[in-house]
Amino acid sequence: MRAAAASAAEEMFAAAAADGVSMTVLSGFRSYDTQVSTYQHWVNVNGQAGADRVSARPGYSEHQTGLALDIGDASGSCNLAECFADTPAGSWAAENAHRFGFIIRYQPGQEAVTGYSPEPWHLRFIGTKDAADMAGSGVKALETFYGLPAAPDYR
Ligand code: DAL
Ligand code: ZN
Repeated sequence: MRAAAASAAEEMFAAAAADGVSMTVLSGFRSYDTQVSTYQHWVNVNGQAGADRVSARPGYSEHQTGLALDIGDASGSCNLAECFADTPAGSWAAENAHRFGFIIRYQPGQEAVTGYSPEPWHLRFIGTKDAADMAGSGVKALETFYGLPAAPDYR
């Protein structure tokens, strides 16, 4: 990951641990080639339209920027599933990630804006000021917060 995001993540994991919450890292930086195989995996499982709701096409993933991180709960339950939001790590992240500059990037009800199904495990580093402002504003999608158009549909 990029240095600023990596050190913020280390601080966040330490703060979670101090609160008795064990968070794990499931995925950080991904190369273009890794995103090719990740996306292809989902095409094989769900077909292209289904894959496009859960995986970015190669060249479009935040994981390729070094600013995104997928986290899990140490119990392993609900890893990369929507019920992760209800685990100790998932609820701790929803409440506290902004203090370290991270946002929950793909939230429920935002599919038409972000282009993706909810991913309570996918954190995106935007810096502590913007993350705190966004948390305080109640805005749920980064596109809305930055006044950007909704996700591209690749056409
Ligand atoms: N799962 C997210 C959208 C990604 O592939 O970057
Ligand atoms: Zn992710």
